[in-house]
Amino acid sequence: MDQQENLYERIGGQQKIGDMVEDFYQSVMKDDSIRGFFHQIDMDKQKNHQTNFLSFVMGGPNQYTGKSLAKAHEGLNTKGEHFDTIVEHLRNTMVQHQLSEQEVEAVLQKISHYRNDIVKE
Ligand code: HEM
Repeated sequence: MDQQENLYERIGGQQKIGDMVEDFYQSVMKDDSIRGFFHQIDMDKQKNHQTNFLSFVMGGPNQYTGKSLAKAHEGLNTKGEHFDTIVEHLRNTMVQHQLSEQEVEAVLQKISHYRNDIVKE
């Protein structure tokens, strides 16, 4: 099993990822360049979906049952700059939660594969 498979377990599973997602959206919602996208969004639901998605990305049991990311972001008109901003918030949050540089990069590498689903330009 590679290190990535163990990340979910190492950081304390679903509960810890949930705490991280809470902090992630706190910082996203303080950022004027992106907060508007979430204006009408049910954030409890969103946090729950994001927790499941990140758990899956970090090698946990596959509990992501939400929409495909292409479908979820359809019509939002998210640009590359928004994607990069969100990634930076996620990066900072993971660093604050004591993920190693290598772990952070491994997660962001996996997420980068979804860029073309999320960004339409
Ligand atoms: C790091 C890249 C991103 C990831 C991993 C990600 C992940 C997700 C996930 C898992 C969902 C839930 C899908 C569902 O409803 O089942 C979602 C929805 C959403 N995302 Fe993202 N996202 C990313 C980038 C962005 C960006 C750049 C924006 C805008 C600034 C954005 C805004 C939204 C909004 C507004 C929704 C709610 C859509 C709805 O419920 O109608 N996301 N995203």
